[in-house]
Order: sequence, then structure tokens, then C-alpha cells
Amino acid sequence: MPIDEADVEQEQMHFANVIATFQQYASYALTANNRRRKDIYVLPKADQDLLTNLGYKEKLAEVDKAIFVNATFLNQIVDNPEIFGHNIDDECGELHDDSISQPNGSQSHGDHGHSHSHDHSHGDHSHSHSHSTSEGHSHGSHIHADPSGSRRRPYRSNEGDMDKLRSTLKQFVRDWSEEGKVERDVCYEPMKDALIKHFQNIPTAERGKLRVLVPGAGLGRLAWDIANMGFACQGNEFSHYMLLASFFILNRTETINQHTIYPYVHSFSNIRDKAALLRGVTIPDVNPSSLPQNSNFSLVAGDFEEIYGAEEHEEGDPQAGEWDAIMTCFFIDTAKNIVNYLRIIHRILAPGGVWINLGPLLWHWENNTTNDPSVELSLDEVKELARQIGFEISNERTIDTTYTNNSQSMLGYVYQAAFWTATKKAV
Ligand SMILES: C[S@@+](CC[C@H](N)C(=O)[O-])C[C@H]1O[C@@H](n2cnc3c(N)ncnc32)[C@H](O)[C@@H]1O
Repeated sequence: MPIDEADVEQEQMHFANVIATFQQYASYALTANNRRRKDIYVLPKADQDLLTNLGYKEKLAEVDKAIFVNATFLNQIVDNPEIFGHNIDDECGELHDDSISQPNGSQSHGDHGHSHSHDHSHGDHSHSHSHSTSEGHSHGSHIHADPSGSRRRPYRSNEGDMDKLRSTLKQFVRDWSEEGKVERDVCYEPMKDALIKHFQNIPTAERGKLRVLVPGAGLGRLAWDIANMGFACQGNEFSHYMLLASFFILNRTETINQHTIYPYVHSFSNIRDKAALLRGVTIPDVNPSSLPQNSNFSLVAGDFEEIYGAEEHEEGDPQAGEWDAIMTCFFIDTAKNIVNYLRIIHRILAPGGVWINLGPLLWHWENNTTNDPSVELSLDEVKELARQIGFEISNERTIDTTYTNNSQSMLGYVYQAAFWTATKKAV
């Protein structure tokens, strides 16, 4: 497929903007917290005194400290972005905000003019990225090209960017913490069980011959678990946030519980007590480099449809029939055109292979503001479509599950996620 130079440039700029978002996290999050601090001073003195007695100001200072710990972690992730083959120039993103210093609870952090999000429909419970735009795609609004030359103004991250970054922290909890085990057990275990059951006649020692694909792999835990079970497993992911974060946890982490993050300090809503707000989560719960010797595990960066759906290739159709299992967890509703997703899954599945699905239908492109097409089917329509495309669906059931849930929040969303296994109908 010919590579379009403009696309490459746009991709690089988008990548640089994501790096900038990681780097600007401290400034942005501290500003949001400082707004709370400033708001105290507009209150009557008697009210201020009462809040002081409650220890509210001390709590704000502790949140600042937690933000600094998060920032140190996030900065480590983007320490060496060149590993992704992108050429990031020095001035691409980092805003140097002189008002940021170590927390003492009193400094001013400047004003980014953003408002704190209280979006109840796409807040904590949403999938890991915004539904109105797709993180993996570059958008004109992200680009600050200087028409007179190649130098760019520093990118100033916005609330949407920061929302994705905060979601990435919560995704670490889902995929790589002891706390996330409850959620993983509900989502990943039935999928892994179904995989083992489908290939129960294959001796464990021969699992390495079976190729398993996990599209929309997020931070890679399901794919890692499958590789750990002895299968050859490839995750696919297109979000730079996810790719940077998963690379870091998989390749730059040496010990269990090496890092502590504070994923819940960004919103004070529905918090029962200070401990719930300020609790640190340690990651990872397993050593990511402890995969058995000779295991076959990879993560491929890029758009699922572009990578696995490309039929025209000088060597014919390289993906057709190549995958013994395809595991879609909270993925199929990321489709703009579900027909194409299902066609690809069908075409690249090997004869006798299995497609295992778990997830809701929170159509990611519904109401998008970028004029992208979006087909939004009901569950019965998706299943009927799968049948018409040539799948035989079995083991259907509903699994109640959360997604990047804060277990100590006063608010929690539960998906009634659809589970099934499907095989190609004999022709
Ligand atoms: C809701 S998350 C689920 C992540 C993971 N499967 C889990 O269960 O935690 C959906 C993931 O799919 C990724 N994604 C969405 N559209 C994609 C595409 N066209 N190609 C590759 N990845 C995609 C997103 O970046 C996101 O990480």
C-alpha cells in the first residue's frame, strides 16, 4: 500500500501532541486542583474557617502531591518516545510552566481556562477514549504547523486529551493491578476459558502453533495472559496513549508493584472519604517479563481495518485464514462500520477457528463531531449480521461487568455485556 507523506506527517504530529499531553499533565491537573483552592477564598470568612477545620486545604495539598507522583510516572513513559520510530523534536510539545514547583499547597499554577468535567454520560464509565473523536486518528485541530517552516508552536493539550490520559491511568488499574483483578476475572476469564475449551483437543505443549489475535488490546493484559497460557498471541492497538503505556509496562518494568499511581485524584465527586480519593494503586501485579521462554507475544500498532483488512497486497491477501482465534473484548463497538469489522474477522479467521466476543454496544462514533460515518446496530442486529456474514454463534450469555471502575466510588456503571463464541459456517 503506498504511504502517503501527508498522512505520515499528520501521524507524527498527532504522536507529538500525545507526548505533549503526558508532559503537560502536572501543570493541567495542578491547575484544576488549584481552582478548588482559589474558590475557598471567595467564600465568607466563617465558611472558610469551617472548611479549614475539616482539613479541606490539607486534602488539596495531598492531592497536589499525588499529582506529582502521577506526573513522574507519566513522564517516565514518554522519556524515550524515539522507540516508536517517530522523530520528536524538542519544541514539539512541552510547555514550560514556571509556576509549577514541588507541592507546598500555596503556589499559583496559571490558568488553562479549562473547566472541570462533570460529564455523567461519558465519565468514569466510558470506554477508554472519547466517543466524538477517535484517538488513533489525527485531527486537524491537533496540528499547529507553522506555515513559514517546519517549527511548530508548542501544543497546548485540552480537556479531551487529558481525559484520555486520565483514562489511561485507570486502564492501568484494570489491566495491571491487583485491584483490577475483580474486573479482569469477570471479563477475561470467560474468554480465556472459551479459548481453552475450543482447543481442548490440542495438547498444551502445542498451543504455540495456534495464532490468537486481540484487536483493540488496550494495555495488553488479555493478550499477555493468552501468551502466558502458551498460545502465540498478537495484540493490535491504535491509540498512542495505550501504545506508549503498554510499551512501558511490558518492556520497561522489572518488578511486581514497581510503580504507584493515584488514578482517583482528579475528581472529587462521589467520593466517600479522603482515603478513597487518595488511595494509591501499585502496578504491575505480575512481572510482565515473566512469560515462558519461547513464548510468542507481540503488539502491533495501527488501525485494525487497515492492518488486517487490507486485501490488496503484492503477496495476495496475507491475513486471510491466518488466525485460529480472534478475541474481541469491549472492541466491536469501536467500529464506524460494523459490517466491515465482522467481514474482516470472518475472512482472517482460519477454518475451524473461533471468534470470542465480550462487550457492550456503546457505539464509539455515535454523535461524532468529525462527520465520520457511524452504523449503530442493536445487539440482535449485530448477531443477525454475523450469521449473514457466515458465523455460527453459540455460548451466548450476558455478563454483568464494570469497565475501569473505581470500586470505592459512590457511583458505578454496570454493563450487561454480550458474550458469545462464533465459528465459521461450513460452506
Ligand atoms: C474500550 S477499549 C478496550 C480495551 C481492552 N480490550 C479492554 O478490554 O480493556 C477499546 C480499545 O480499542 C482501541 N481501538 C479502537 N478502534 C481501534 C481500531 N480501529 N484499531 C485498533 N484499535 C482500536 C482503542 O484505542 C481502545 O484501546
